[in-house]
Amino acid sequence: MNYDAIILGAGAAGLMCASVAGQRGRRVALLDHADEPGKKILISGGGRCNFTNLGTVPERFLSQNPHFAKSALSRYTPHDFLALVERHGIAWHEKTLGQLFCDGSARAIVAMLLDECARGGVDLRCDAAIAAVDHADGLFRVNAGGRTMAAPALVIATGGPSIPKMGATGFAYDLARQFGLKVVQPRPALVPLTLAGEDLLFRELSGVSAPVIARCGKTAFREAALFTHRGLSGPAILQISSYWQHGQAIDVDFLPDRAPGWLLAAKASQPRAPMRRLLRESLPERLADVLCDRLAIAGELGTATDRKLAEAEARLAQWRFTPNGSEGYAKAEVTAGGIATSDLSSKTMEARRVPGLYAIGEAVDVTGWLGGYNFQWAWASGWAAAQEL
Ligand code: FDA
Repeated sequence: MNYDAIILGAGAAGLMCASVAGQRGRRVALLDHADEPGKKILISGGGRCNFTNLGTVPERFLSQNPHFAKSALSRYTPHDFLALVERHGIAWHEKTLGQLFCDGSARAIVAMLLDECARGGVDLRCDAAIAAVDHADGLFRVNAGGRTMAAPALVIATGGPSIPKMGATGFAYDLARQFGLKVVQPRPALVPLTLAGEDLLFRELSGVSAPVIARCGKTAFREAALFTHRGLSGPAILQISSYWQHGQAIDVDFLPDRAPGWLLAAKASQPRAPMRRLLRESLPERLADVLCDRLAIAGELGTATDRKLAEAEARLAQWRFTPNGSEGYAKAEVTAGGIATSDLSSKTMEARRVPGLYAIGEAVDVTGWLGGYNFQWAWASGWAAAQEL
């Protein structure tokens, strides 16, 4: 069974790459061990698929080489994907921060990609467990489901190991290593963080969320944070988790809209106001109460010293948490790290030292922010490789 290209993984990147290469006249086999394609697309965006982000710029992607994603992202943009979505009559809306979602089900995006694959004559095979891959005489041979297929081009599009219960694996890394490509240490990203020690008290706030600024080193995100029974989650924390390393602290500004000196000003204007009430004006009650208890300012503002209030204000603006870990691949929306970009061409996604071998999507050491960026990378890198197949 001979093809021009064999693509491993019928997820976001693999479906895009197969459809474009197929429509360019290539004979493409698309293999996946799952029983249906695009499973992560189906559960994405709470079932409505946040399929791209209008704010896509290379700075919103993490990689050992921050320049790597530039070429692919500039050649296949959010507007290109949006044009495809519109051609298929899929209704969409912008939710917030440039995030585009389907009005209806994410299933429409998978159906669209399958339709594009069918137009390209792609030979899609699910339930195809890949037993072996080898390379000789300029041909890649893939043994899957008892059959052997051969092609001069092989595309690794099997994603990362996040959410293993959905069939996600580290297969891409094993295969990359088999061909001598380096792998940047993979780690869970866009993942809730866990708290221990002194921070454990915050677990009693499980379910409470508040708009904050979360900071780690020089990186900061202004979005909602959510307390969970294990620690911290919500968009601000998921975003910062991609930058967080074990042992680092995360600083949370619980009152990002307060001007410096606001607490002393409040003391001057309303000395009889209790601290608890003041905090409850700007924060969810349960959170305000826990913070107030920990600041140990029980009574009226007028009874606290200026120094104590200045310290409390500084602490509220920079509340330090030291997570003891994350909830791991079981809960991570993506995997950071992956196949080293130094071994790939940024224009074609082809391995520099193994002609005909390509890697695309999440398998590569390019990780987007939360909000549609990871799909945009899957589309753009899949499209880039498809131009060369
Ligand atoms: P993807 O994981 O999509 O596909 C890989 C494919 O390879 C899968 O079909 C898998 O079955 C197959 N495979 C794996 N191992 C194999 C093996 N050994 N043999 C054969 N096949 C194998 N992003 C975003 O931009 N907007 C969003 O709304 C969301 N929402 C979201 C929600 C949740 C819960 C998760 C877990 C993730 C998201 N994401 C997201 C991230 C996004 O889903 C992810 O980045 C892309 O799906 C990556 O596309 P890939 O094609 O690279 O991998």
